[in-house]
Amino acid sequence: MNDDTKNDTSTTSTMWGGRFEAGPSAVMEEINASIGFDQRLYTQDIRGSRAHARMLVSKDIITKVDGDAILKGLDQVEAEIKAGKFKFSRALEDIHMNIESRLREIVGDAAGRLHTARSRNDQVATDLKLWVRDALDGLDGALQDLQATLIDRAEEHTASVMPGFTHLQTAQPVTLGHHLLSYTEMIGRDRSRIKDCRTRLNECPLGAAALAGTSFPIDRDQTAAALGFQRPTHNSLDSVSDRDFALEYLSVLSILGVHLSRMAEEMVLWASVQFGYMRVSDDFSSGSSIMPQKRNPDAAELVRGKSGRVFGALMGLLTVMKGLPLSYGKDMQEDKEPVFEASDTMELCVSAMTGMFASATYDTARMENDAGKGFTTATDLADWLVRVLTMPFRDAHHVTGALVKMAEEQGVGLEGLTLEDMRSVEPSITKDVFAVLGVLKSVNSRTSFGGTAPTNVLAAVKDARERFLK
Ligand code: ARG
Repeated sequence: MNDDTKNDTSTTSTMWGGRFEAGPSAVMEEINASIGFDQRLYTQDIRGSRAHARMLVSKDIITKVDGDAILKGLDQVEAEIKAGKFKFSRALEDIHMNIESRLREIVGDAAGRLHTARSRNDQVATDLKLWVRDALDGLDGALQDLQATLIDRAEEHTASVMPGFTHLQTAQPVTLGHHLLSYTEMIGRDRSRIKDCRTRLNECPLGAAALAGTSFPIDRDQTAAALGFQRPTHNSLDSVSDRDFALEYLSVLSILGVHLSRMAEEMVLWASVQFGYMRVSDDFSSGSSIMPQKRNPDAAELVRGKSGRVFGALMGLLTVMKGLPLSYGKDMQEDKEPVFEASDTMELCVSAMTGMFASATYDTARMENDAGKGFTTATDLADWLVRVLTMPFRDAHHVTGALVKMAEEQGVGLEGLTLEDMRSVEPSITKDVFAVLGVLKSVNSRTSFGGTAPTNVLAAVKDARERFLK
């Protein structure tokens, strides 16, 4: 995009020049202008103007001749911007006035009628809503791709055993497929937040005008429908001052950021020599300029780091909005940069995560071996005592604790204790107990709904495809 906005010296606005004797100072122009960033709204702005112009014609507020001239002119403006031929002017402040001014050059006086029954206040709220709505739709698609990748990888690993952790201490054996599907659920909730946010956002502010509505006989249902909104907003004051939708979008992105950051952190841990569970593919890793052996999971670290920016965007806009009196205030112009930045950041992060999950390799032998370390089948032993010896769970917990202590002292796993050892703690234990002490046995037994057993995970893969990919 052609951006000459910094050097532009043309001054007094033809848009409101009537009341002013002098143009703005250079500093005023710099602090006031948003064209440097809101040019990203051009598609949405033109979409809004088309809908508005058509409505003005159909309500006989402007003539068909003027309406047609405006529509034709808007096509040309759009083509010029797309082709990078449009000269943005900082003196014209923002995308709305840049487009209207160019329209006037192209179609003459008819352009001056486009702003009938409209203000930049309802215009900008409409534009940004349209932009966020498009962004939500794009993000939803990208997250579905991420889920599809996770589900495919989970299907490969329904029976790959790994240690499950609590407190980052080995807890009980789980399956890798189960672990990957837990991410799919997190992303599923992010997608349902997207849907929710989209529904609440989907009311059209256009026609609220500056703040009070208009005396022209406009048809707000028509413009709302033309722009794909569910209905017009109900209150003109609220219409021009609501930025909840942007805050909600940033909240959705922030929670998603938390999720991606947690997944990224696990990648960083798992890719370390100490864990050695996962290898991040070459295309998402980097080396060190000094240490030849290094192989760093940079993309995962950056996803983890970039979530911080997204939270910053949310905090920034919350702070801009708090305490603002109704209705519009220029403070609200500060809504766009955090929205754009957070959006770009998350789009990149989601692609990186999808790419990393798709190309990662897992050392399943090492994971399975680790799954047995740290007495991870102690709960299985306690459950056996309850099931077979009908012991109360609390007592079984106590007996098992004593056996773990004994095994620890001998430097062996639970399965390394002899039957005599076990009987010295609890005389009614039989040799059958050894059947539950293997990690595979352990995961196979976890068949409760939502549990980690390979049979469950296989069914969960199918179910996840039904719920998320259809
Ligand atoms: N550039 C402005 C914004 O982003 C557009 C609305 C300006 N309205 C006004 N009354 N000055 O918020």
